[in-house]
Amino acid sequence: MAVKNSSNALKVLFVTTELAPFSKVGGLGDVAGSLPKALSQAGVDVRVVTPAWPGVLEKLEAAGVKATTVKSKVYAAYDWRIHFANVIKADVNGVTTYFLNSEDYAGDMYPAQLNFWTASPFAVFCMQALELKDAINWTPDIYHCHDWTSAFLPCALAWHRHYRQTGGKSIMTLHNVAYQGVFEPYPFLDASGLEPWSFNSSTMEFYGQVNLLKGGIVAATAVSTVSPTYASEIQTYESTRELSGILYQQRSKLRGIINGLDTKFWDPNGDKSIPAKFNARDLKGKAACKKALLQRAGLDPETDAPVIVCVSRLVEQKGFDMVFNAAGQIAETGAKLLILGSGQDWIENGIAHAADMYPNSIKLFKGYDEPLSHLLYAGGDIFLMPSVFEPCGLSQMISMRYGTVPVAREVGGLRDTVFDVDRPEGGNGFTFLTCDVDGMMWALRRAVDRYNHDKDAWKNIMLEGMREDFTWDKSAGLYKEMYEDLTQ
Ligand code: ADP
Ligand code: GLC
Repeated sequence: MAVKNSSNALKVLFVTTELAPFSKVGGLGDVAGSLPKALSQAGVDVRVVTPAWPGVLEKLEAAGVKATTVKSKVYAAYDWRIHFANVIKADVNGVTTYFLNSEDYAGDMYPAQLNFWTASPFAVFCMQALELKDAINWTPDIYHCHDWTSAFLPCALAWHRHYRQTGGKSIMTLHNVAYQGVFEPYPFLDASGLEPWSFNSSTMEFYGQVNLLKGGIVAATAVSTVSPTYASEIQTYESTRELSGILYQQRSKLRGIINGLDTKFWDPNGDKSIPAKFNARDLKGKAACKKALLQRAGLDPETDAPVIVCVSRLVEQKGFDMVFNAAGQIAETGAKLLILGSGQDWIENGIAHAADMYPNSIKLFKGYDEPLSHLLYAGGDIFLMPSVFEPCGLSQMISMRYGTVPVAREVGGLRDTVFDVDRPEGGNGFTFLTCDVDGMMWALRRAVDRYNHDKDAWKNIMLEGMREDFTWDKSAGLYKEMYEDLTQ
């Protein structure tokens, strides 16, 4: 039985700029919204701190979560003034969570252009997170930071005039090394209070710029990333270019721990956003979900054709140029392709153009739509994820929970979670290695053929995915081990 918050439990503060369901952009939000609960059940005294971005407190209220304002404010001395924030405390899913509310977090969550001004809220947030202990009378043993947006915290513990005297251990978890927080060093170096000597090529300097993620990696007590395969890929030049040297140099403190899911939230048997529920023993509801999805897409709801779905940020990482370049070939298979996502213009436009050319086969739902994403996961037959790189990927796991068979590239966390059914030992999906249209179509055609011609085999593949263990249990144990290794 887990010891919840016993007095000698390890104290860990999760420092995150995304938190599902209040401020989620992608998988980081999902992880921050579900891992702390699993850690808490594993006996870690974990709390979360996150900015109250615009709309977050309203969502908190709408969700009926009771929140109180902590008596003391937190502050950060930055850019020659004191930045105060109110601390709003709430119990989110059994985890004590602090939302920092101030004008520093009144702008867009992720700025389109990074410079001193737009990077400042992230530095302020990290300093306020370091000050939180006095306001709440609870001192963490470990600060667990995520991605470049909280990477200033380990930097501050190592190189800030004041914070380097205070001590404290930190973990830097890399959800995506492609986003590094790079911008001009001036006036940041003076304004942030970092020691002048701390800016050099073996710390946070990067071709004359500040690179917060590089600093965080070097300064953190330990580093983790979100799958074992990505942990080895990021040490190679092909994967992370100029940062690979640092990651290789720091490899002794790096580990890869695969993400889990909030399996209660992502559950086809309890999901309130889908028209019919189903589970591995009774799949009938899935057919109703498929009908509803086809109807929503304006396609024939009675079609026998396999429905390929994608739910994704439409950015280079996700490989959608392959998808729109293969539009004709996909349409020729007879399958329907439904894509939900938003992101870079050239990718949105490429897909929109493909949808215009093949209106009976391809449909783009442009935007971010949580309930619709559930309908796609539930109503699809095949989930397509042709990522160029993928640190972990949650969508392929969610789709498997909903009996939607993944077709995925063998890269990063996809390689650790999707296994080709045509291996001698069998598997839960269809995979391909080469990052091109031919590779993707080779796997996709095999999936479509199997769906069309071997219904029994198809059902077995679906069930294989639905029975996978995507809970956080095992990985929470590995994080706990990492915390213990750091504090012994
Ligand atoms: P990443 O974090 O790189 O975006 P992941 O697969 O780890 O990729 O996580 C993506 C998460 O964001 C999943 O929960 C997915 O359902 C969700 N998501 C992505 N795009 C959309 C969208 N347009 N609408 C709703 N949810 C989305
Ligand atoms: C990032 C990665 C994704 C991963 C997620 C959560 O956004 O792109 O692969 O699943 O973080 O760790």
